[in-house]
Amino acid sequence: MVCAHQFAGVSVGIDGGDGAFTVDASRITFGRGCIGELGPRASALGLRRVALFTDRQVAALPLFARALASLRGAGLDVVVHDEVEIEPTDRSFLAAARFAAEARPDGFVSLGGGSVIDTCKAANLYATHPAEFLTYVNAPVGAGQPPPGPLRPHIACPTTSGTGAEVTGIAIFDLLALGAKTGIAAPQLRPSEALIDPDATATLPAEVVAASGLDVLAHAVESYTARPFCRRPAPADPSKRPLSQGANPWSDIGCREALLRVGAYLERAVRCADDHEAREGMMWAATLAGIAFGNAGVHIPHGMSYAIAGQVRDYHPRGYPEGPAMVPHGMAVIVNAPAALRFTAEAAPTRHLEAAGWLGADARGAGPGDAGELLAGRLVEIMRAVAMPNGAGGLGFGEADLDALAAGAIVQQRLLQNAPRAVDEAALRRLFGEALRYW
Ligand SMILES: [Fe+2]
Repeated sequence: MVCAHQFAGVSVGIDGGDGAFTVDASRITFGRGCIGELGPRASALGLRRVALFTDRQVAALPLFARALASLRGAGLDVVVHDEVEIEPTDRSFLAAARFAAEARPDGFVSLGGGSVIDTCKAANLYATHPAEFLTYVNAPVGAGQPPPGPLRPHIACPTTSGTGAEVTGIAIFDLLALGAKTGIAAPQLRPSEALIDPDATATLPAEVVAASGLDVLAHAVESYTARPFCRRPAPADPSKRPLSQGANPWSDIGCREALLRVGAYLERAVRCADDHEAREGMMWAATLAGIAFGNAGVHIPHGMSYAIAGQVRDYHPRGYPEGPAMVPHGMAVIVNAPAALRFTAEAAPTRHLEAAGWLGADARGAGPGDAGELLAGRLVEIMRAVAMPNGAGGLGFGEADLDALAAGAIVQQRLLQNAPRAVDEAALRRLFGEALRYW
């Protein structure tokens, strides 16, 4: 019934489509200064010895000292793992799992960006249910087996307003043997609690706020325009319904609220670190978009992003630590978004128009045929306002790279099949071509 009303006349369960959707939600504590609740919250979960995961940069911040003091103040025994790699790999996941197995904590805390939180999920998984690494990795790369039971408690504390990793059951990493990103996706991976303190973003450079904020935008707009859950084939076993189940009435709520906030706050949050209202608004948008995409899934812009991130040659973003060439995740996603969403608009024009309007586009008088241009145009305006590169060309890619980029993206079938419109390798090549330059 809901589906027939919400999803353009498609009735629930017709033609083998799924007749229901599942909502997985985390316990969330949100508010400025709430990192001080960490110790009492860990105690309330019955924890006595926790493994605290972070990275070297975050470990040097006053925020880390506050988190540690809160845990110790509540009488907890704390072992610290501060060697999490940014852009984790199977090797760094396994190193973290070895640490966890030796430390024998009864619960976990992660304090950092998506890399830290995802690494902590993996360490918890492999320390709690040891297995050969590929056992739990998404098929067809791995065996895609579900964890055999629950994991230990995990309190996730994000320090960027972006990935939403604190509320999802997904852990993304680079599989070194393949040279490609893949992930582990299972409801058991979702942290038991998310402790979200907007003050954690006070020290973030503007460039990081911009890139991570555009990841939030992409989570919301892709989840909102994803293939509706009732058009995805019903699973033979209802307990095997995928996390990427498609757009549904629950995820729609988070997408709408996140897009309204990104439209209102992203530029302000980038421009001024002291604009607490804007930085807090972006943190809440990240949470809402994380809840939404954790229950709906993203599609083509994210699928294309893994080829961009994996094939970059010499791009070094400002505001990030020095090191090898890299493209921040949100940037790798957003450079594809205008081209990809112009392409998908014809499959769901009303949703693309609504998203453009929530982001601040003037949609008065616009019809279904204008949806793609209107949304792409608004995305480009926002990209320019927060100093993003001019498409993939601004990251060093050119016409000669299009075949390799398309080949790198077509393997992301879990994401591509969640798009509202079918996309093959030739279409991806065209989209990468359109994404080379926007202005
Ligand atoms: Fe993302």
